[in-house]
Amino acid sequence: MVDLDAFDANLADLMRRANGVPLRLASKSLRVRELADQALCGGFRGMLCFTLPEALWLARSGASDLVVGYPTVDRAALRQLSEEGLQERITVMVDCAEQLDLIEPPARVCLDVDAGFRALGGRLRIGAKRSPVRTPQQAAALAREIVARGFVLDGLMAYEGQIAGVGDRPPGKPLLALAVRGMQALSARELATRRAAIVEAVREVAPLRFVNGGGTGSIERTAAEPAVTEVAAGSGLFGPTLFDAYRAFSPRPAALFALPVVRVPSAGVATVLGGGYPASGPAGRDRLPRPVAPPGLKLDRSEGAGEVQTPLHGAGALRVGDRVWFRHAKAGELSERFPEVHLIRRGEIVGTVPTYRGEGKTFL
Ligand SMILES: Cc1ncc(COP(=O)(O)O)c(C=O)c1O
Repeated sequence: MVDLDAFDANLADLMRRANGVPLRLASKSLRVRELADQALCGGFRGMLCFTLPEALWLARSGASDLVVGYPTVDRAALRQLSEEGLQERITVMVDCAEQLDLIEPPARVCLDVDAGFRALGGRLRIGAKRSPVRTPQQAAALAREIVARGFVLDGLMAYEGQIAGVGDRPPGKPLLALAVRGMQALSARELATRRAAIVEAVREVAPLRFVNGGGTGSIERTAAEPAVTEVAAGSGLFGPTLFDAYRAFSPRPAALFALPVVRVPSAGVATVLGGGYPASGPAGRDRLPRPVAPPGLKLDRSEGAGEVQTPLHGAGALRVGDRVWFRHAKAGELSERFPEVHLIRRGEIVGTVPTYRGEGKTFL
């Protein structure tokens, strides 16, 4: 279920943090069309899609300003992009010439730039391993290649995952928190200078419609950079548990799922059906779903969140047939587990809408 009151409050808070800079919706972080529409009505501009088939599907039902956030080698989808005349509405991501070989000009492309942090002469590398393009010279060279091949160079993206996706208030780890804050401050300073130089170098080759950066965890920092024209965000709308660990903001938990108690193996333990919905990323306890209501429940250390059943400790009052509510560690991945979302307003169900999965779409 999604609590629309919390969702709306989170949306307003994301807008406040962006301070007038447009937000592009990271669709992977919702995977529910109705809620994406609500975010767009609420002020988000355009979408950062996660696959080209997804963007084609959305464009066929009228959506535009769709940027595919990750490179694609899906030849069939790329053919459809040009044959169906959707090139005006969809921008595909590239960071090397080999990807261009598969795309039909005059498609719109966005140049993806590495926003990771490097220290100790390059021996320490922090951040997502994404684009090989890192310097203004490399970006300008690829930009020239893009233009020379007849593509429209539509935008530039540089996602600083080491700031946007790493909480600076990890619970119970004060030393790690200090290290994260120090790294993020250094990285933000380095990136602001480098991103501006890259944008300047690329703008000498082609006008850019947009310069995208950031994510839920970095909105105010990214939006403050003059070279950035828009910030991508999505997770802050659902407010999953991994986003509890930031100092700058505290989203309200808007997305929850319920599982039924199916047995009581011993006093104080209740077992619910299903629950094994770990989030992607490096495996760890912080990726597991968290029981939140009734309060005081804990996963079992040896069983965790199980494929078909999940025992919970601290369950004194729970009986067979009762319901336990959980939060997911990440945002849109939850939508891959359920076909429908119940929309709640002031404690009442006001609608039930399909997830992407419920529409028969599993893009990744
Ligand atoms: C390219 C890109 N931009 C932005 C984001 C941020 O999205 P969110 O706000 O959901 O964390 C992501 C998330 O992984 C991403 O891959």
